Amino acid sequence: MRIALLGGTGDIGEGLALRFAHDTDHEILIGSRDPEKARDAVEGYEETLEARGVEASIKGFTNEMATDRADIVVLSVPPYYAGDTVDAVAEKLDADTVLVTPAVGMKGDEDGMHYHPPSAGSVTELVAGRTPDEVPVVGAFHNLAAGELSNLEHDLDLDTIVVGEGAAKDAVTALANEIDGLRALDGGPLANAAEVESITPLVINIARHNEELHDVGVKFQ
Ligand SMILES: NC(=O)c1ccc[n+]([C@@H]2O[C@H](COP(=O)([O-])OP(=O)(O)OC[C@H]3O[C@@H](n4cnc5c(N)ncnc54)[C@H](OP(=O)(O)O)[C@@H]3O)[C@@H](O)[C@H]2O)c1
Repeated sequence: MRIALLGGTGDIGEGLALRFAHDTDHEILIGSRDPEKARDAVEGYEETLEARGVEASIKGFTNEMATDRADIVVLSVPPYYAGDTVDAVAEKLDADTVLVTPAVGMKGDEDGMHYHPPSAGSVTELVAGRTPDEVPVVGAFHNLAAGELSNLEHDLDLDTIVVGEGAAKDAVTALANEIDGLRALDGGPLANAAEVESITPLVINIARHNEELHDVGVKFQ
């Protein structure tokens, strides 16, 4: 399968790219608004992987080109740019492409991070509302810490909650389960995304106040 990470030059894009490349045989496409930036990021990811003896298939493209080539597209851009990024690639999406959003709406103040959903109810639902009707949208990877994913020395033991429906949700669940130490749990339909997203500020606040839990995630038992 071909997995595109739009804004794959950023933090969660790097973490997911490294884990997908390290743990799976899928082809990874790093998307960016600037293809040169994407290719530079790919060089860095390849160096990290080569140091661990992994020769992976990763290539850099514009977001549009990456979307055009992909089976699963992960929208790894800040939440306030998610809608515009969907608009920018919409022509390259189709019914056979799954669009995945890990984005979370948050606001920070002196007390910590707070959940701040858009009027759509969640960023996941906002993204679904901006996406052409025939394109399946799935929410996943919201509660993972990019730093923990990027540190390949670290063995994961985490859950990610997947929201969506049908074959698209099954495909993203299977993909998430291919990452060693990550378990995908079914969170129900997209309408449940706000509950999933709202865990992220909690996780960040816990990481901030508990030194030993830097880059903490969630595990349901
Ligand atoms: N960081 C985490 O630990 C984490 C964990 C779970 C979920 N998430 C979610 O993942 C998403 C990305 O988070 P992040 O921390 O990876 O973000 P980030 O590093 O700040 O940005 C990711 C990429 O977004 C692109 N971007 C920046 N401004 C943009 C704009 N105006 N329009 C379109 N693209 C733009 C950039 O790529 P180019 O310049 O190459 O285009 C950038 O490298 C967020 O929605 C966040 O809620 C993050």
